Formats: sequence, C-alpha cells, structure tokens
Amino acid sequence: MSFFQDKKIAIPGGNGFVGGYVTARLEGLGAKVFVPKHSDGWDFTKEADAKKLYLQDTFDMVINCAAFQGGIGFHTGKQGDLYFSNLLMGTYLLQFAEEAGVKKFVNIVAGCSYPGYTNHEELKEEEYWDGKVHESIFSYGFARKATVVQGLALFKQHNFNSIHLILANLYGPGEHFNPDQSKALAGLIKKFYEAKKGNFPSVEIWGSGKPVRDWLYVKDAVEGILKAAESYNQVEPLNIASGVGISITDLALIIKRIVGYEGELVYNTEKPDGAMRKMFSVKNMQEKLHWLPETKLELGIAETVEWLDKNYEYAITH
Ligand SMILES: NC(=O)c1ccc[n+]([C@@H]2O[C@H](COP(=O)([O-])OP(=O)(O)OC[C@H]3O[C@@H](n4cnc5c(N)ncnc54)[C@H](OP(=O)(O)O)[C@@H]3O)[C@@H](O)[C@H]2O)c1
Repeated sequence: MSFFQDKKIAIPGGNGFVGGYVTARLEGLGAKVFVPKHSDGWDFTKEADAKKLYLQDTFDMVINCAAFQGGIGFHTGKQGDLYFSNLLMGTYLLQFAEEAGVKKFVNIVAGCSYPGYTNHEELKEEEYWDGKVHESIFSYGFARKATVVQGLALFKQHNFNSIHLILANLYGPGEHFNPDQSKALAGLIKKFYEAKKGNFPSVEIWGSGKPVRDWLYVKDAVEGILKAAESYNQVEPLNIASGVGISITDLALIIKRIVGYEGELVYNTEKPDGAMRKMFSVKNMQEKLHWLPETKLELGIAETVEWLDKNYEYAITH
C-alpha cells in the first residue's frame, strides 16, 4: 500500500472506534494524517468548522468516520438529534470537500441505511434504494443514506470522486462497551463476562435471538476501507462485510464458550429485534477489491474479550 505514502489525509472521527484504526494504519503506511478531534472542539454539525477543516491543508483524501451513533437502544429518545447531527455533519463535510478541491472523499456508511424489511438472502448494492430503512434506526439510517445521494449529485454536477462504503456490523478491541453506545456483540460479551465474574445464574438476551447479522472484525474492515480508498472510484455504494451471517443466539453461544460461562440464556422478547436479517453480499467487494476478510469470528471475539478483560474500567464507560 505504498499508494498512501505522503498522502495528505483528513480523518473526521479519527479518534472514534473505526477512525482510530484507520488513522493508526495510515500513519503506519506513511500517510500525513490530520485528525480533527471532537474533544478538541471540532464540531462538524457547524458549517464554520467543516469549512475550517479544509483550510488546514490541501487534502488528497478525506476518510469520513465522524458520526453521532450507538446501538439500537441508543436511538430511543434521540431520533431527532440523530437525524439533525448526522445530516448536517455528512452534508457539510462532503460539500466543502468538493468546494475545496479534495481529490477523493471516502464516506463510511452503516448497513442500517439499507432497506430494513427485505426478505432477500443478502443485501445487494443494486437494491440499496429499494425500500424503507428499518424503523428502529430510521433517522440515523436515512441521514447517512442522504450523504450517498449527495455523493451522486456532486458526481453528476462536478464529477467529484466520492465513494460510499456500506459497512457491516463491526466489532473488535477498543469498541464501545458502555450500555448506551455498545452494539449487540459487545453488549453480549460484557454480559457474559460480568455473569462469569459475578457467578450469575443467567444472561439476558435482547429480543428473540433470531435476527441474523454479519460481523466484520474492525482490523479487516480497515483493510477493506483502505483497499477501496486506493482503488475503488465509483460513486455507487460498495459493501464491506464478512459475507457470513450468524443469529444472535449462535453468536451468544460462541461468546459464552469463549468467556467460559456455564449459566443459562434467558430471552427478553420485550426488547426490539431490529431488522430480522442483515447479511451483505460480498460479490462486488470481491470483484472490485480482489479481497475478502481473513479473521475468523471466534478469533476476533477472543481478542475482543481479552481486550475487555485488560481494559474493563475504561471499556465500560467508553
Ligand atoms: N461501529 C460499527 O459497528 C459500525 C458498523 C458499520 C458502520 N459504522 C460507521 O462507521 C462510522 C464510525 O463509527 P464508529 O463506530 O467509529 O463510531 P464512534 O466510535 O462513535 O466514532 C465516531 C467519531 O465521530 C466523532 N463525532 C461525533 N460527533 C461529532 C461532531 N459533531 N463533530 C465532530 N466529530 C464528531 C466522535 O467524537 P466523540 O467520540 O468525541 O464524540 C468519534 O470520534 C459511522 O458512520 C458508523 O455508522 C460503524
């Protein structure tokens, strides 16, 4: 990946979960990375801050990992904030990148921007526009999807090169374990880990345990993102995923085994399932990037559990 050597790359959200890994990998590849941290006062819901970003340097590339987001429970009571923040952030960052002459904009988008009620085996890029996003995450999913429309509009009007990578659910060391922001996999790891430590008789699983998800190890996701950043130059969305689906129950059983917990699973069907099936087609990814993720789910989970064990106090508040 000598392509990235000395490239000037801005990474909004570069100290978040995904952005942190992208930043570290690019620095290792010799890129000149600029990370405008939210904690340092950068706020991309503000037009002035998004404009100011592009005055810092003439960037070859932007990899946009900034988002205001969390797991399915995070959305309750924040639907309007999620819409407003993410729509503004995405819109300003993309619009002013084009105006500033950035050569390429890599937009990191979540799978929840796909139609949420499809019965299809897999989510295919060709069907990205074919239905409503799921009600459980509708405002976030739609706001992120709007940036894909914007990318198409800027391509048609100005020939601007933006790419839109639709990522599966991610997991790995360093992810959010605080109950507000954690996703299903991290939430399950935390529950089994604490149940083992506390000798609890059972672990509660949210929903029916039936929804199927595609889990991509974060280090693999970064390889996919960087391969696309280097060589994919089409405005049509591209999935970055493992291509392997697993139900919440099967996922829970794997985590239970890795953690070494011996109690029962109890289902709380009062809690939402979300979309029943979110499996991504990786056909285009394989064809365009000549790449498939390598990390087996069991190995990635074991590394994540090990990280939680070493960083528990930090992890559960982060
Ligand atoms: N994690 C996943 O499972 C997953 C799966 C698929 C796609 N994605 C996508 O990947 C992207 C990044 O997700 P992530 O998991 O890395 O999230 P994250 O850990 O929450 O990181 C998001 C980053 O954006 C920053 N940010 C939030 N609001 C901002 C604002 N107003 N101005 C400037 N920066 C702001 C955050 O800063 P603070 O933390 O300081 O607020 C954080 O650094 C999102 O588009 C997400 O949808 C994630």
